[in-house]
Amino acid sequence: MKTLLSEQELRIGVERLAKSIDDFYGVSPLTVIAVMTGSLVLFADLIRLLSMPLRVGVVQASSYREGMASGELHVDRRMMIDVFGRDVMLVDDIFDTGKTLDRLHDEIRGLGANSVRSAVLLKKIRSVEVDLRPDFAAFEIPDEFVVGYGLDYRDHFRNLPFLGVLEPSDLESMA
Ligand code: IMP
Ligand code: MG
Repeated sequence: MKTLLSEQELRIGVERLAKSIDDFYGVSPLTVIAVMTGSLVLFADLIRLLSMPLRVGVVQASSYREGMASGELHVDRRMMIDVFGRDVMLVDDIFDTGKTLDRLHDEIRGLGANSVRSAVLLKKIRSVEVDLRPDFAAFEIPDEFVVGYGLDYRDHFRNLPFLGVLEPSDLESMA
């Protein structure tokens, strides 16, 4: 698989991301919410680099996507923690069309959060379908389908330590 970002490049990017979040929020308490499942790996690395007092929760967002095409979004809040009156930061793997984070921002604002921001590992360079932009992004990448470091193709490849560009020949290694 062609490597887009190596393990070391990802580590440096996540450190830079944590630094900008620390600089922005200072020591005020923060509620961080992982958008499952893609942010799993980033989230574990990122929260250990943040310095403010943290509350940690998760929310599941999945689009009924078949492979690479985006579909209708389904949000499952059953595992989320209380956000009323809190400063909230959503953490997701990638900002693509922006629909996922746009919808989650609305939901969390609707639950009475004091503020809602978002941090992503990757932002694709493409035309976006919403007004929202991520507040913090570690890398901008070309509009290609990428996997690894949490990102999947049909739930495969999330465990790769690097970020790769998926090519048809890679599909043969899927179970
Ligand atoms: P958005 O709602 O279009 O911004 O899409 C966000 C979600 O689509 C991400 O959380 C990913 O799960 C998925 N996604 C978008 N682009 C890619 C990609 O290149 N590889 C893997 N997943 C992707
Ligand atoms: Mg995802």
